Amino acid sequence: MAGSLQLVACSSQPTNEKQNMSAEQMQHATADVHSFAQPTQAVARHLDLDIDVDFDRKVLGGRATYQIENLTGTDKIIFDTRDLDIEKVYLGEEMTETTFRLDEGDKVLGRPLIVDIKPDTKKVTIAYRTRPEAAALQWLNPQQTAGKKHPFLFTQSQAILARTWIPIQDSPGIRITYKAKVKVPKALLAVMSAENPVQKNENGVYTFSMEQPIPSYLMALSVGDLTFRNIGEHTGIYAEPATIEAAAYEFAEMDKMLVAAEKLYGRYRWDRYDLLVLPPSFPFGGMENPRLTFVTPTVLAKDRSLTSLIAHELAHSWSGNLVTNATWNDFWLNEGFTVYFERRIMEELYGRDYADMLHVLGYQDLQETLADKGADNPDTRLKLDLAGRDPDEGLTDIAYEKGNFFLVNIERAVGRERFDAFLNKYFSTFAFESTNTDKFLDFLRKELIQGDAQLAEQINVDGWVYAPGLPADFKAPRSSRFAKVEQVYEAWKNGKPAAQLNTGDWSSHEWLHFIRMLPEQMSQQQMADLDKAFNFTNSGNSEVLAAWFLHAIRNNYVSADKALEEFLVRVGRRKFLVPIYKALTASPAGKKKALAIYAKARPNYHAVSTVTLDELLK
Ligand code: BES
Ligand code: ZN
Repeated sequence: MAGSLQLVACSSQPTNEKQNMSAEQMQHATADVHSFAQPTQAVARHLDLDIDVDFDRKVLGGRATYQIENLTGTDKIIFDTRDLDIEKVYLGEEMTETTFRLDEGDKVLGRPLIVDIKPDTKKVTIAYRTRPEAAALQWLNPQQTAGKKHPFLFTQSQAILARTWIPIQDSPGIRITYKAKVKVPKALLAVMSAENPVQKNENGVYTFSMEQPIPSYLMALSVGDLTFRNIGEHTGIYAEPATIEAAAYEFAEMDKMLVAAEKLYGRYRWDRYDLLVLPPSFPFGGMENPRLTFVTPTVLAKDRSLTSLIAHELAHSWSGNLVTNATWNDFWLNEGFTVYFERRIMEELYGRDYADMLHVLGYQDLQETLADKGADNPDTRLKLDLAGRDPDEGLTDIAYEKGNFFLVNIERAVGRERFDAFLNKYFSTFAFESTNTDKFLDFLRKELIQGDAQLAEQINVDGWVYAPGLPADFKAPRSSRFAKVEQVYEAWKNGKPAAQLNTGDWSSHEWLHFIRMLPEQMSQQQMADLDKAFNFTNSGNSEVLAAWFLHAIRNNYVSADKALEEFLVRVGRRKFLVPIYKALTASPAGKKKALAIYAKARPNYHAVSTVTLDELLK
């Protein structure tokens, strides 16, 4: 197993050894079991990437040149790779060829690239090529895009897939700045998690610069028939021409979100904030690539009702991109903080009762995850132990929602004013550094708890961070707008026809709450009445659709079959796919249907989704 340093910090009490270390040393003291790199020996500081994008072969090829620091005078530097062909490695300005080897690794972590260096080596150049099956990359043919004329490429590096398209020290505890030169077919535009061009040029060669040091999982590239539209002074959208209009309407409030976020937790440190709207196969809702959030088109609901996702990715510009989880065991520091921050932004824009709906939906997701995993499952602790496993296994509502509610709990204990001041200080203290659970808890004790025993008991660090499930005294969130939905639901349950229900100005969230409340077993008549009144089967809202399909499957409501299949073939967002395919597999007939649809849909999915679904449907 990998693991750069045998000094693992996993108890809440700092050891003496750790106390004697400087902050700089501390930063490297956390072993990352998901990287072969040994950054305490020799570490990369800057990357110059020079690559060609070959759509015919589905290959990226070129050179990755690193400025490195040899900290101990070692004769080796180690990079992570997975499914990469390494052609040659050179040292220094004079490009002297050096020896290297690719050690045995494993399927998830890939193989360490061990390069022979000199004590004074400052520059390492790796000539390499990706393979068509590189897991980070999705190569789309024109039919899979909105415009249907040009191919499209995007990357998804988080958590440990950057190593499938760049040889890199692929640990979130290591930061690099980068410049890139990317050559693409002339009709296409390339964009990265960096300073970006706004239009195509004659020669198809684009240059990029990211001047703030970032962790490897934020390396990102996309190539396609893209156009750019300004939204505010510092915000804008990249999308295919066929999508740009809808996106500009949907995300018109991104500038307001940026203003609200800065007001809450301090200056935005990345200059511009743009969005890239991807084709529907994008496996996530959003990905917080710095300066350029990647976002699914399934949030284009035409009524701006799913934009909390943008608030979420924007919030990562502080929690995650600025202050970064040092290892994937500390993933809750990225996502829990971001969910909390996201809802604070939404509260600024739309009021407390709006944010409350998001908290309640999140709480429902959390309950489901806890029920699914079992409330005493160690994976329901905030601090995870993912050694020997794919870090993707840590991507659950525990990090997101339990993490969020821990912070909500602290806010309640100390008051919002003090908590906001604390968070501001946290982001500025650890800016452009990585942090782990222990470092955060030390900071919490020093800045907030300050020896107050009663407060410590209220905050209950051990209960939240190191114990599974939820603390016994946790109070579930409530929503006044949902209370109204529940009344309507009761009326329906007591026999009031769907068409007569008062659903006047419901948002996506209220609809989602209503649909989730519907009984597991419904008659064909009930399903048809609901569908006739509310047109769920043909909803343009992906959240509503995905929730409704679960009922359609359970109740064998065949009128939704066509729409269901169309959705599964078009959309590759894993969060929607997994529950739907799971519901289908509950019966033999459903399983058969699932396999037939999957055979058709699989070519449209990114590897992130197929890895999960292959397992589910095997
Ligand atoms: N950074 C995550 C996505 C991610 C996490 C990708 C771990 C790979 C590994 C992103 O910020 C995220 O959380 N996206 C969510 C949306 C959000 C509103 C909860 C998603 O894609 O569903
Ligand atoms: Zn996130």
